[in-house]
Amino acid sequence: MRPILYLLLFVLSFSCKTSTKQELKKEPIKGVIAKKAMVVSAREEASRIGKEIMQKGGNAFDAMVATEMALAVAYPYAGNLGGGGFMVYRKADGETGALDYREKAPLAASKDMYLDENGDPIAEKSQLGSLAVGVPGTIAGIFAVHQKFGTLPIEDILTPVVSLAKKGFVVTKKQEKRFVKYKDLFFKVNADTIPILKGYKANDTLKNQKLAQTLQRIIEHGKDEFYNGETGQKLVDFIQSNGGIITMEDLNKYEAKWRQPVRFEYKDLSVISMSPPSSGGVCLAQIMNMIEPYDLASYGHNQLKTIQVIAEAERRAYADRSFYLGDPDFVRIPIDTLISDPYLEYRMEDFSFDKATLSSEMNCGNIPGYESEETTHYSIVDQFGNAISVTTTLNGAYGSKLYVNELGFFLNNEMDDFSAKPGVPNMFGLIGAEANAIAPEKRMLSSMTPTIVEKNGEFWMSVGTPGGSTIITSVLQAILNVKEFDMTMQEAVNAPRFHHQWLPDVVVFEPESFDKNLLNDLEQKGYSIDEETSKIIGKVDGILMLPDGTLEGGADKRGDDTAVGF
Ligand code: GLY
Repeated sequence: MRPILYLLLFVLSFSCKTSTKQELKKEPIKGVIAKKAMVVSAREEASRIGKEIMQKGGNAFDAMVATEMALAVAYPYAGNLGGGGFMVYRKADGETGALDYREKAPLAASKDMYLDENGDPIAEKSQLGSLAVGVPGTIAGIFAVHQKFGTLPIEDILTPVVSLAKKGFVVTKKQEKRFVKYKDLFFKVNADTIPILKGYKANDTLKNQKLAQTLQRIIEHGKDEFYNGETGQKLVDFIQSNGGIITMEDLNKYEAKWRQPVRFEYKDLSVISMSPPSSGGVCLAQIMNMIEPYDLASYGHNQLKTIQVIAEAERRAYADRSFYLGDPDFVRIPIDTLISDPYLEYRMEDFSFDKATLSSEMNCGNIPGYESEETTHYSIVDQFGNAISVTTTLNGAYGSKLYVNELGFFLNNEMDDFSAKPGVPNMFGLIGAEANAIAPEKRMLSSMTPTIVEKNGEFWMSVGTPGGSTIITSVLQAILNVKEFDMTMQEAVNAPRFHHQWLPDVVVFEPESFDKNLLNDLEQKGYSIDEETSKIIGKVDGILMLPDGTLEGGADKRGDDTAVGF
């Protein structure tokens, strides 16, 4: 008996040692790998439709049109026809560019439209119902992309999306929870019962025949169907009957705009990101330039000094954001200065590892002589070497909560991204100044940060996220996780995140993800810690080109996000 016992003990101790070794030398967690092309988005259905378009010979831009519309069907939380977004692209030949299909303020909008008789903002007015709605840009966006870069007929691209709307998508657990969470607001805002209120549970199939019909008319009549046709007229009649101010003239005048993206270097990387009216690219450039002199890799991932440097750079960038940034067609923005080395060195002059800078004692930088979590992101790389990064939104969850029954989609509440009153925070706590005051036809400032990164002049990463004001800092951490901390794309998007945005002067951490001693150390240095406000920070999706030329998809574990490739 004894020898058998010894043998058993020996085997047990051996297997224990093996597992300890495995724990010490952790295997990297890799995302989906594809040889040629990939889509990563918030829903499997959308990723799959985008992938199939590429398998049929379409390029990343064709796939963008299909993915964007498939998200409107299967992810009504943020996917949209009634909202807007931004795309950054890098073609196989290295050409880069950006498309702005951000919503606009209606012609009848005015600076004080959300203030009460005492001049105080009425938050509900800019967040819920018809007055919160900006002129939607998404349909103009997909047609601009298709016209410039598309290769397949629009009918071939959108017909699978019409089928998806007709056949329906399977509701996930997370979706069921959200339908319940926003139920009361849906009741409050909508005069009629809307489909989402039918009590869908996880695994039920949600079909949207009205949206299928709208998309079919768009296939037949093009962009004009939405901006000058039957769909547009129905949309305007609906908004106005609910007390809104958007007119046919607003729709007729809407145009998506091609913009020059923000480009900057970080070590051996070139980062290409969204320019104003998004603050994403400028803030990302500011933060990455401010942290570049510090050896984050030696400090370690999510360690004290790393968090200090990043939070302080974020504090300074968000202070500048609030003052300088707005719609570039309305305000002059000193982008070159804001992202220049001398300016950013001056911004970090008063940074010390000894104690936190106080936001109350720090404002935007002085430039001499200068006169909604609830968004969605997808990345696509095609078999030809084109890469795109798209973030699209209704702003809040299901936007204004106002649903156009006849057309089958929700309308945005993007007007809340303006500063209703300079100095007063919006729904993300972001404070804006005159640069982002409301004016007719102006685009509201965004934080969306669709980003493409090159390494040694070649495509390396496409990345982005939802998350309102936390978008910029989540994209930042995903890039740094791969570049500085040797993570795979999947590990980089899954890793716990933190966020600072100048005001309120707190560092927000994902709960139960950070060591308590570390948080105590930060408090000792004067940082206010908040582990309550955000259950999650961002929901990052990205694609990384691996050294052997294959693609790794990082689909954030925080959502139903899925990478699909071939
Ligand atoms: N509505 C969120 C953003 O544009 O940043």
